[in-house]
This record gives sequence, structure tokens and C-alpha cells, in this order.
Amino acid sequence: MLSYRHAFHAGNYADVLKHLVVCRILAHLTQKPAPVRYIDTHAGAGVYRLDSAEAGTTGEYRNGIGRLWGRNDLPVALAAYGELVAECNAGDALRHYPGSPWFARRMLRTQDRLDLCELHPQDFPRLQRLFEKDRRVCCHFEDGFDRSLALIPPLERRALVLIDPSYEIKQDYARVAAHVQALHRRFATGVYALWYPLVEPHRVKALEAAFINSGMRRIHLYEVCLTTRHNGRGMTGAGMIVVNPPWKLRDEVRAAFDCFAPLVSDTGEPIYRIVELVGE
Ligand SMILES: C[S@@+](CC[C@H](N)C(=O)[O-])C[C@H]1O[C@@H](n2cnc3c(N)ncnc32)[C@H](O)[C@@H]1O
Repeated sequence: MLSYRHAFHAGNYADVLKHLVVCRILAHLTQKPAPVRYIDTHAGAGVYRLDSAEAGTTGEYRNGIGRLWGRNDLPVALAAYGELVAECNAGDALRHYPGSPWFARRMLRTQDRLDLCELHPQDFPRLQRLFEKDRRVCCHFEDGFDRSLALIPPLERRALVLIDPSYEIKQDYARVAAHVQALHRRFATGVYALWYPLVEPHRVKALEAAFINSGMRRIHLYEVCLTTRHNGRGMTGAGMIVVNPPWKLRDEVRAAFDCFAPLVSDTGEPIYRIVELVGE
């Protein structure tokens, strides 16, 4: 039984971080004309209303996309991401927030393909409806871990796999690192982007250790925090671990974080980490 609904959290600071990184990776992968495969293991509903009861209950988007909306002084990567959010909203008001599949579809070209996995019985039909006219997209009502393993290596030999579970089950922390390793064994040159929440710092430390000891090379971590005080209960930070990050990604993320992180932290100071977990 899946109880997590992304509609409660859409557009929060963790989504901004995740979608910024996804958009930059796809911007780099699409610089060459050769086709690209995008695989989203946990796709969600695809797009979210910010005036819905769910988003209204938490108001999380206010300390996320709400901090960027309407600004015209953003660094290049953040501005490009913001323009996509604006495109999803007709007019001046921020009413919708796009999910990862929406951003990916917008970034990709006719020669590219998308595989989107979602298991929630209410979110899957929404996802399917949103993309039913797009022949590049295949929606799978299947476990994203299993499906992504079956799809790798892709025919295109160039791919981004986004792994974005809800971490409803604590074992997910251990499962995700092993899963990226399994994908990497099948396809070592793929780009793998894993999102994680920072609730209990020891779980993130264990996740980092799993990647450091995995034998995989070229691994970066990008994390934004709301505070330096982690009480182990609510989410106080979030990050992305990227295997095989495109060249320049780290610099683009740094420029984006210098602008974005102070806007969402409790002190107004930037609280973030950019770490090379494993080098070349
Ligand atoms: C964090 S949300 C995804 C958000 C989406 N990637 C985005 O950025 O817009 C996680 C989603 O995974 C779905 N889910 C949970 N377990 C899954 C599984 N084993 N396979 C596929 N989807 C799953 C949940 O229903 C939920 O919609």
C-alpha cells in the first residue's frame, strides 16, 4: 500500500534541487544529435496543481519554487529551469508545478525516448493521460527498480536514469545504492541521478559510504539544507548523488546553490554541500 503522494510536496526546495539537476544533465546530454534515453523509476503524476487541497495543506512550494518565481536575477541554470516552470503556467500566477517527467519531456527531442514508472493507482492514470499523445513516452505501471534493470543497457547507449523513491520504507536507503550499482554493472557509461532526503544524518552518511565503496568512479553529491540543526524527525535537507555527471554540472549547480540556498535556509545563510565522493 503506497501512502506517499508527491502532490503534498511538489515544488518544495527538494524538488527545485532535483529538477534543476535533471534539466542540466539533459541539457548536456542533448548537445550531441545522437538519441538519449530517459528512465524515471518513480515518476509521480507528471504535473501538480499548487492550489490543490494537497499542496495547500503543506504550502511547501512557498519555500521552494515560490522563492524563485518572478525573479529576473537568477544565474543561468536556475533561470533556464525557472523558464520551464513558467512555461507550465500560462500567465503570471504560479498555479502548477511540473514533475520530473514533464521537465524531461520538455528537454528531450524527437529522436529521444522516455520510460516512466509509477505504481500509485491514482497517480499512474494521471501520468498516462498527460503523455498519451506523445509517442516518445512509455508509461509503466510497474516497480521502477525492476523495470529500470530490464531497460538497461538502452539501445541508444546514452541515458539518464532518475531514481527518486519516497523512502517510505527505511530499507530504501540501502536498496538505492545497490540498485545504482546493479544498473552501472550493466551499463557503466549511463548517467545515474539519485535523490535522497536528509532526515537522520546517519542514513545519509551510510548512503555516501555505500557509493564511496561501490567501485564506481566519478560520483558527485549535491545537497541543500534548511538548517544546520537536524532533529531526526522532519526533512531538513535533500540531495542528489550523480554518477557520471556531465562536465560543467558541478559549476552550474554551485552557481545555482549560491543563489538558491540562502533563500530557503532558516538563517538566510547558504547551507549546502557539493562533494566529489569519488573522482575519475
Ligand atoms: C518522490 S515521488 C516521485 C516524484 C517525481 N519523480 C518528480 O520529481 O516529479 C515518488 C513516487 O514513486 C512512486 N512509487 C513508490 N514505489 C514505487 C515503485 N516501487 N515503483 C514505481 N513507483 C513507485 C510513488 O507512488 C510516488 O509517486
